[in-house]
Amino acid sequence: MEWENVLLEKRGRVAILTVNRPDKLNALNRATRRDILAALDALEQDEEARVLVITGAGEKAFIAGADISEFAGMTAVKQRAVMKGRRAFDAVEDFSKPVIAMINGFCLGGGCELALACDLRVASTQAKFGQPEIKLGIIPGGGGTQRLTRIIGEGKAMELILTGDFIAAEEALNLGLVNYVWSSEELEAKTLELANKIAEMSPVALAMAKASVKNAARLNLKEGVDAEVDLFAICFSSEDKEEGVNAFLEKRKADFKGR
Ligand code: COA
Repeated sequence: MEWENVLLEKRGRVAILTVNRPDKLNALNRATRRDILAALDALEQDEEARVLVITGAGEKAFIAGADISEFAGMTAVKQRAVMKGRRAFDAVEDFSKPVIAMINGFCLGGGCELALACDLRVASTQAKFGQPEIKLGIIPGGGGTQRLTRIIGEGKAMELILTGDFIAAEEALNLGLVNYVWSSEELEAKTLELANKIAEMSPVALAMAKASVKNAARLNLKEGVDAEVDLFAICFSSEDKEEGVNAFLEKRKADFKGR
């Protein structure tokens, strides 16, 4: 499937969404954010697609941020209206299937924020990360101050947001900002290996697991643990739970159908 600014392909159970504006380092303009939302909506209905990988076209960038040209002359009132609408960042976070950011280069500003909204982040050794909005006289507006802080802690998040400095992939790995760093040559194959491993699990259990882990940042401990009991119980309403348990008892590989 194809939109103007994003490409969507499927490799078995794994869907790959590529932001496709390589001449602009895949900067997220409004139309691209709209296309991402449309692609997510299409994938949400697609039972074949069990895991989503998001990446950027070209050799240089994952996504080099919001499209800065759209900020010129923009008023506070209009910008707020844009951001109060449905946000691609939140739609990625709320997407019911696991999402992996495959970061192949610059991962800056809104690009970093989109990656932060994903469930896992993997990067090539070439990747560079940063929230450079401060250099434009603004701050991250796509969840960066919140999600970066939750993922790497306040001290380092504050430093990155106040300085606008970029960090390399190795440092991102040490900070827990990315799960893995691989060479550019290996990045796609290793990412697909990881995505396929997850795609073999029950889609029902994956959705419940994602929702429950996300609750850790949204609810207090008591609410989160109580909600986990309910999400755990929902798994027991699935055919996949019977299949998973029986497969273990029969010493065979489970074949999860997402029911
Ligand atoms: N918005 C709009 N256009 C962008 C962009 C962005 N965030 N990032 C890159 N581009 C465009 C450049 O304007 C340039 O377009 P042009 O060829 O029409 O002039 C093209 O992408 C290539 O970028 P360029 O700056 O020439 O590449 P570089 O290798 O010299 O530098 C960066 C790469 C990432 C360091 C630099 O592009 C940059 O600082 N981008 C902005 C990052 C940022 O501040 N993001 C947060 C936005 S809130």
